[in-house]
Amino acid sequence: MEEIEAFIPEDRVTNLVFFVNGKKVMEPSPDPSWTLLWYLRKRLLLTGTKYGCGEGGCGACTVMLSQYRKHEDRVKHTAVNACLMPICALHGQAVTTVEGIGSTAERLHPVQERIAKAHGSQCGFCTPGIVMSMYTLLRNKTSIKYEDIETALQGNLCRCTGYRPIIEGFKTFIEPWETKYQSVDQVSSCGLGKDCCRNKNIDLQEDAKLYKPSEFIPYCPSQEPIFPPELRLNDEFYRSAFIYFRGNDGVWIRPRTLEELAIIKQKFPHSKIVMGNTEVGVEVKFKNKYYPIMISPSMIPELSVLKVVDSGIVIGAAITLNDLNDFLEIVIREQGKKAAIFESIREMLHYFAGNQVRNVASLIGNIVTASPISDLNPIMLACEAIICVYSTTYGIKYIRIDSTFFKGYRKVNIAEDEIVIAIEIPFVDSCQYFKSYKQSRRRDDDISIVTAAFNIKFADDFTVSQAQLCYGGMASTTVCATKASHAFTGCKWNDKTLKVLLKLLVEELELDDSAPGGMANYRKSLCLSLFYRFYMYVFSNMKNNGLLNTKQQSGVFQIHSEDPKSSQCFEINSNVIHKHDNIGKPIVHRSALKQATGEAIYCDDIPPLNEELYLCLIKSSECFARIKMIDVSKALALPGVVAFFSASDLSKERNKMGTIVKDEQIFASDTVSSQACVIGAVVAKSESIARKAKNLVSVIYEKLRPVVITIEDAIKHKSYFTGYPKTIRKGNVEKIFSRSRNIIEGYIRNGSQEHFYLETMSALAVRKEDDLEIICSSQNPAEISRVAAEVLGIPNHNVVTRVKRIGGGFGGKETRGVVLTIPVAIAAYKLKKPVRGVLDRDEDMQMTGFRHPSLIKYKVSCDDDGKITAAIFDMYFNAGNFMDISCSLVYKAIMHVDNCYNIPNIEVNGYLCKTNLPSNTAFRGFGAPQAMMAAEVVIRDIAEKINKPYEDVMEINLYRVGDFTHFNQELTHCTIYRCWKECIEISKYWQRKKIIKEFNSQNRWKKKGISLVPTKFGISFQTDFLMQGGALILIYIDGSVLLSIGGIEMGQGLFTKMMQVASRCLGIDITKIHISEMATDKVPNSTSTAASLSSDLYGMAVIDACRKINERLEPIKIKNPTGTWEEWISAAYFDRVSLSATGFYSAPKIEYNEETNSGNLFEYFTFGVACSEVIVDCLTGDHQVVRTDIVMDIGESLNPAIDIGQIEGAFVQGYGFYTMEEILVSPEGEVLSRGPGTYKIPTLSDIPKEFNVTLLKGAPNPRAVFSSKAVGEPPLFLSASVFFAIKEAIKYARVDAGVSPEFSLIVPATCARIRMACEDFITQEVEPTVRHVDQPWNIIL
Ligand SMILES: Cc1cc2nc3c(=O)[nH]c(=O)nc-3n(C[C@H](O)[C@H](O)[C@H](O)COP(=O)(O)OP(=O)(O)OC[C@H]3O[C@@H](n4cnc5c(N)ncnc54)[C@H](O)[C@@H]3O)c2cc1C
Ligand code: FES
Ligand code: FES
Repeated sequence: MEEIEAFIPEDRVTNLVFFVNGKKVMEPSPDPSWTLLWYLRKRLLLTGTKYGCGEGGCGACTVMLSQYRKHEDRVKHTAVNACLMPICALHGQAVTTVEGIGSTAERLHPVQERIAKAHGSQCGFCTPGIVMSMYTLLRNKTSIKYEDIETALQGNLCRCTGYRPIIEGFKTFIEPWETKYQSVDQVSSCGLGKDCCRNKNIDLQEDAKLYKPSEFIPYCPSQEPIFPPELRLNDEFYRSAFIYFRGNDGVWIRPRTLEELAIIKQKFPHSKIVMGNTEVGVEVKFKNKYYPIMISPSMIPELSVLKVVDSGIVIGAAITLNDLNDFLEIVIREQGKKAAIFESIREMLHYFAGNQVRNVASLIGNIVTASPISDLNPIMLACEAIICVYSTTYGIKYIRIDSTFFKGYRKVNIAEDEIVIAIEIPFVDSCQYFKSYKQSRRRDDDISIVTAAFNIKFADDFTVSQAQLCYGGMASTTVCATKASHAFTGCKWNDKTLKVLLKLLVEELELDDSAPGGMANYRKSLCLSLFYRFYMYVFSNMKNNGLLNTKQQSGVFQIHSEDPKSSQCFEINSNVIHKHDNIGKPIVHRSALKQATGEAIYCDDIPPLNEELYLCLIKSSECFARIKMIDVSKALALPGVVAFFSASDLSKERNKMGTIVKDEQIFASDTVSSQACVIGAVVAKSESIARKAKNLVSVIYEKLRPVVITIEDAIKHKSYFTGYPKTIRKGNVEKIFSRSRNIIEGYIRNGSQEHFYLETMSALAVRKEDDLEIICSSQNPAEISRVAAEVLGIPNHNVVTRVKRIGGGFGGKETRGVVLTIPVAIAAYKLKKPVRGVLDRDEDMQMTGFRHPSLIKYKVSCDDDGKITAAIFDMYFNAGNFMDISCSLVYKAIMHVDNCYNIPNIEVNGYLCKTNLPSNTAFRGFGAPQAMMAAEVVIRDIAEKINKPYEDVMEINLYRVGDFTHFNQELTHCTIYRCWKECIEISKYWQRKKIIKEFNSQNRWKKKGISLVPTKFGISFQTDFLMQGGALILIYIDGSVLLSIGGIEMGQGLFTKMMQVASRCLGIDITKIHISEMATDKVPNSTSTAASLSSDLYGMAVIDACRKINERLEPIKIKNPTGTWEEWISAAYFDRVSLSATGFYSAPKIEYNEETNSGNLFEYFTFGVACSEVIVDCLTGDHQVVRTDIVMDIGESLNPAIDIGQIEGAFVQGYGFYTMEEILVSPEGEVLSRGPGTYKIPTLSDIPKEFNVTLLKGAPNPRAVFSSKAVGEPPLFLSASVFFAIKEAIKYARVDAGVSPEFSLIVPATCARIRMACEDFITQEVEPTVRHVDQPWNIIL
């Protein structure tokens, strides 16, 4: 690296200068590997900006970047992902983080206030990122539309809320009163004062809303902080600098001229040009690439051109995708039809990554990377764009992007010393058609499965003179189907040519099951389908377009997106006990404002402690093998590495763990049974050293066989956990079967699902004398303390675990937290130093398990009316390599297989498959969503068999009050039938079903479907000892109350609800009550916060504690009946009355007897019904949920805002499970879905376009706190209504295609499965051409 200095001018700038939240930051030797996220969090301790993935895919790290644009004389603001932003690229720019726009102590920014008060922040981990995306939008545009909000938030994921409240909160920025206010531009109020339309038009219905927009602070752009004057004044100085930053790990160079850049490139051909860093950054972080010399070409004038020339447009290499987008918008407006290619680019850009990525990424970066699934390269190839490159050897050169340009996997025809200056993209002729299409797993922010670009020139009205049919996602490079393209020349644009063409395409685009990316059938079908779409598009645009009938027109376009709307119907509790009583009121999550300002602290937000060390886990690279040798010598030799821990540091006994059965090892000692097994942990002085050291640990394995991955493998090898199957029986199944003439057999398969909590597993442990304090992101702190104490051989009272809040859990942090936290605890205790560990997203996904995939086989009989008479269910669950809590999960599944239907004779067998996958674990619903699916499939199978509407079969089988379940529990307060009737009415089900039928008869390529699904969810841990909860109340002399409970806050609003309960019980305002954290030294031996039960258990415990306090205060209150709370507390203190009390609750004993299958297993049931309507694109398999109506019985809600938030959040999470989320593993058991890039959870644009939630009125629950019900898990299954609506739509498509309407669809109903189920002439053409190989690229769980 020393040689490079000779090429750096003397007037170089070596100090990095930028501003953060208005303050100047100077960094003398910044390292090119430092990201802005790391710098903000670890150097500036601005922890509001979060780490969610590190790969630009979640938006948790969004900040605003501001730059003065001299030529436009304005400041441009862009939202960017701090995790991919090299700190070195910030010279002369200003960064604004969530802390910089408002705070709870001073002034909240309206964006922060509205997301919080509209209930758009649950766990809050995504909130700062979402706030910053919205804030940047407001800073950039004076007038916004809904689509601007949707575009701005494309790159932000939220796993809790279901997005609806976020949308609603932000939509207030486009309300007429708001926009009017903004235009008046007053500082504190509208010029019209009380006559302001905002005050006049207060929605009369506001009281019936979950929040009051009229209370929001108006948005006033003039109050925003100003751009640092120093940057504006010295803009020229900052821009014209030759930058040379030299860090420990490399250098960052920003030349001023093309010649300077070219010389460095010639002398150091391996140096890396970096533009947006969205490819390079990912390579460095996840592919262990190292680039010692990085060059930013951002200030080179030739690379910043953006102009229209005679033949087309020229785009400089330093132009970002969003700047390109803006430019194209103008060109399209000005050039009209000539701009067809630019229109295609714009359409593609809308679906290209998220807004934050498009704000920094460049077109040239995309082309040079040459990813086979690039979105833009097929367009460049189809239009034969021309690249202009420069090198010192020969100056300027022009390269045409033709079939020779993409030379191989991620290789283009550009030499290492060549610099791309710009690209020229042509206009089209009047007789030319150009179109591009993209299909991905998820519509927004997803890389493509297949991308296509078609370019056709006509010699006359119908004769093709030239064609280019180009594809991405079909080979290791972007390809042109040359044979098919050439064959087109001279052909007429008609069905005969189409037929030939499809045949040629199917032959030319070869793919088999071993192709990376999998889905060979689907990808080939897409190539043909997209071409067919183009074929129809051209027809519909030709002069004589009568050739395309109206039914076919539906194939021309993708599904159009509508602006979302919603309603929430609930009852405010009028039973107030005192003036402060807010039980039943939609009060805001008590941490929401702090979450929105970035003040809320999560585990890794705790500032670094003195002498803190960092721990990284080394996971197995084999899924079933003997460990022959572990060599850590290289890792230990790395300066800064402090220790390595492995099985040899623990006795055999202490190396064991497991919640129910101790079948796991903390560190694998001799064999590994999945790639999630931990070989050891390396501890170093910093995270970067620990991560480097981790890669230096070498392990030699001896592979063992057989490797068992799938349920089918397990069945084949009889690989079950001991004691399975577990069986329950009721009645006499065989007898009924032998008499029945209606017998149906079938199966349903449910895939897996990753929790994708936004905050990955994190832990910090500190030893203080003999005590160990652990701060971590666990749903079960008591278990963490217990295991840590056991492993360390110390009493439990020496280990205190604290959890203030966690960034989502959904069951994933119930037991698997031990994987990281226990090694961190061991290291801290043994090294006597604070030790921190945070799993990277890819580590988290590979090591902490998923929702259990399942296969459920059934045999059912029914009478001629469709009433189920008997059923056998064989349920197989893939548990992975360890038991974890899978045994409880199977039990829960067994008890939910009936869903809402009365099955008088039944046998259920639950098998627990032991495989070489990471141990699967709890996930919202805990086995029930998989099991209930079986009941729903059965209902529809019966309907088909006896030729009756499924609604009739459902209704006839629905449980009624007084019925007994298959585990013989009487349904005493069963409201399922009420929910059913109400949902049908609210959703106008029958009318809409008719309209849908009509729509389907008129549209060949778009089909709609509508479906109803009910749910019944049993509330209980199903184990007595877990059904307990503790609370502690401490009251201080000033009257303030500190409440502690045994449950943790993970966004579900538990702390808020508990404060509401205490507020009612103590008769005081909620602001006097505080819950700081869950700590095992406040409430011991608590149960995991899980099973939707925490409000029930801890609510009762809080009531108990309050009762004790009230009893003690009673005499004081009698003495001074008109006194205030503070006066009573003060009097109590001076009277020496104890002002602390514990509360405890133990739920009534479960009376269920497994032997006799009788008694009560659940405390009560939560019921609900949903109706969903979808539209399906039969050519691509894409779909959109048009509308969902939910009616849910949650008793008398403690807090309707929180409860509706849970319903919507669960629904959208379930929607991901049933339609989109797919875990891919290799045949060798390697998890391939490792982050938001490869694993897709729903985004904002995926939620139902109309989303209505109604809480059933007049259904108090006598068995829980203040007549409420548990709500966390029960609504998840209702999203299966989308799955069945999709199935209905597919059926219509199949009938149109003349194929059997009977088909099977498994969970999830992905675009690939939907398209292949919409069988037609295209899929039939493709099917025989796909070779199936023994070793496919992937297995879908
Ligand atoms: C979250 C996320 C989502 C994404 N989604 C999509 C998507 O939907 N579709 C898609 O196609 N891609 C997607 N990508 C990939 C990536 O964003 C694009 O490839 C992007 O266009 C790369 O541009 P960049 O400026 O960031 O490139 P960089 O990472 O800066 O550079 C990429 C490559 O180009 C080279 N390069 C850059 N400029 C020059 C130049 N002037 N001369 C020579 N070489 C040069 C670099 O040396 C490097 O090899 C995604 C990436 C992320 C992180
Ligand atoms: S952490 Fe940056 S996008 Fe996820
Ligand atoms: S609130 Fe959005 S991820 Fe939790």
